[in-house]
Amino acid sequence: MLSKKRVPVRKHISATYATRAFVRPIPRYEVPEEGVGPDVAYQLIHDEMNLDGNPALNLASFVTTWMEPQAEKLIVETMNKNLVDQEEYPQTGVIQARVVNMLARLFHAREEHQFVGTATIGSSEAIMLGLLAHKWSWRKRRERDGKGPSRPNLVVGADVHVVWEKFARYFDVELRIIPMEKGRYTLEVEKVRGAIDENTICVGAVLGTTFTGQLDPVEELNDMLLEVKAEMGLDIPLHVDAASGGFLVPFLYPEFPWDFRLEQVRSINVSGHKYGLVYPGVGWLIFKDKRYLPEDLIFYVNYLGSQEATYTLNFSRGSAMVIAQYYNLLRLGKRGYEAMAKNCLANARYLAERLEGMGIFHLTHRDVVLPVVTFFSEAVDVYGLSCTLRGRGWIVPAYNLPKNAEDVNIMRVVVKENFSRDMVDMLVSHIEEALAKMKGGKAFTEGTKAGNQIHTKIC
Ligand SMILES: Cc1ncc(COP(=O)(O)O)c(C=O)c1O
Repeated sequence: MLSKKRVPVRKHISATYATRAFVRPIPRYEVPEEGVGPDVAYQLIHDEMNLDGNPALNLASFVTTWMEPQAEKLIVETMNKNLVDQEEYPQTGVIQARVVNMLARLFHAREEHQFVGTATIGSSEAIMLGLLAHKWSWRKRRERDGKGPSRPNLVVGADVHVVWEKFARYFDVELRIIPMEKGRYTLEVEKVRGAIDENTICVGAVLGTTFTGQLDPVEELNDMLLEVKAEMGLDIPLHVDAASGGFLVPFLYPEFPWDFRLEQVRSINVSGHKYGLVYPGVGWLIFKDKRYLPEDLIFYVNYLGSQEATYTLNFSRGSAMVIAQYYNLLRLGKRGYEAMAKNCLANARYLAERLEGMGIFHLTHRDVVLPVVTFFSEAVDVYGLSCTLRGRGWIVPAYNLPKNAEDVNIMRVVVKENFSRDMVDMLVSHIEEALAKMKGGKAFTEGTKAGNQIHTKIC
């Protein structure tokens, strides 16, 4: 992570535990001259970590906060293996390929398609790599057709995750954003039609937006792109960002077409570490057919004794989360993922009902289709509420929506596997308690101030 903070020198962490073992100050921002014993180092860091929030009460993040002990055992057993060392760890490579196959088939890649894919660090890397391939293919098409240089563009809704903007800036692509409106927080297909042209490398759709958990109209987008292909001869690919929806929609709505069943959908990313139910550090990128991944983006590295094909941004990375993904797929199977998805959704709908029942909150949209509940209130300062709830340990973010809807301030609860119905009831009673406190005055004012500073980040 980049840190802008210039940290002061000569500050120390001073001895604690009545100096039983930790007897001298340790510099905070410089490498200490001498080390400490392993127990001391452990205790010191372990204690500091208590200042973090409790992952089990973290309703802000989409990222998995609980896994089974057997999965954790496998993680510990495999965390010393570098995924890129396939010559040394061939079975790890075999398992990565198995997961790619499982996901491609789950997303309805057809056997006659030569689908390809890779594990990534998360959906961000997967999106960057997917879009880069589309940019490359666009350039090749232009060269083939004898067209001169031109600036590529990418068309998306304002509901995309910030990584799409990052891609556009890092890889010099014009980002054409279809704005939101108050009350409509997904992509509008007709506006996309007006924004695309021969320099559009790709159109993006989100299956489970970060802001409200809704689904972009992928099928309608596909139909529109097919019309454009027929009328104008432009074959514009669709990349689906299924970071959170990719492990939910296939089980909740198997008939809903959003994936490789649709002709223009050429690539899909999914976060293994969201509803794939793996701890942070794994995403997946799948191309419907290897012809959509230009050969010159694949690096064949003669490394440690064999030729390896890689399409990643990072070279080294841990293999533990890839193995943990495979564990979940074997352990749960389709029925297990279905049960998880249905359970989370039922709990999310129950929470939505309870919040509406309080009479002061409104849902941002009527249909809770994924287990994400977003709500707002004219009567409550959501930043203050977010901050007051922290007193009970709950982490519930508050934020405002992008341009055109920026005065809509909402709260979001991502219902994960460990968030039981009983916990929903406790959260609601703590919301009631917080509102009563806030009415008291002091907590309200302080909460508001701190809330604005702390809870603007969404992930
Ligand atoms: C829709 C969407 N796309 C992309 C991302 C980035 O994913 P990752 O954190 O796996 O890199 C997120 C993260 O929340 C997301 O919600």
